[in-house]
Amino acid sequence: VAWTDFERATIKDIFSKIDYEVVGPAAISRCLIVYPWTQRYFAGFGNLYNAAAITSNPKVAAHGKVVMQGLEKAVKNMDNIKATFTELSTLHSEKLQVDPDNFMLLGDCLAIVVAAQLGKDFTPEVHAAFQKFLAVVVSSLRRQYY
Ligand code: HEM
Repeated sequence: VAWTDFERATIKDIFSKIDYEVVGPAAISRCLIVYPWTQRYFAGFGNLYNAAAITSNPKVAAHGKVVMQGLEKAVKNMDNIKATFTELSTLHSEKLQVDPDNFMLLGDCLAIVVAAQLGKDFTPEVHAAFQKFLAVVVSSLRRQYY
């Protein structure tokens, strides 16, 4: 993947500005609420019965932060995201058996939460750069599926 200077700077800037403890839980909660079939992978997380239960579930919140820390690895290795996510892809494929179509659903939820956080700084150009980053992340997470 070839990145422009603007795209590199934008991705690093977004991740330096956002608070993982806010954005991560908000994105995963949104995903579990608006795409309820994604709940099936989180049986061990306890009560996901409705939106209030999901947003106040500490296991969901903790997992949101874990996902953000995973994404940070991609930000720090923008020239090698596929290799960076080899193990994570294998985990989601072979062990967790997550349908890979769900990856971009979480990515889209993340984009909405980031957009709300950045406000007017989330310009169309910034959005395009972020969406490209998500596309590379998702395709890297799909790599070990067969
Ligand atoms: C675990 C990242 C999407 C389901 C994880 C972990 C990371 C991660 C870093 C922890 C891995 C470890 O313990 O070594 C991501 C990223 C995603 C993504 C970056 C996409 C942007 C999804 C989606 C689902 C999912 C869409 C299901 C709908 C799970 C489950 C676990 C997990 C069930 C194990 C949770 C636990 O039991 O603690 N993911 N993930 N992931 N992920 Fe994902």
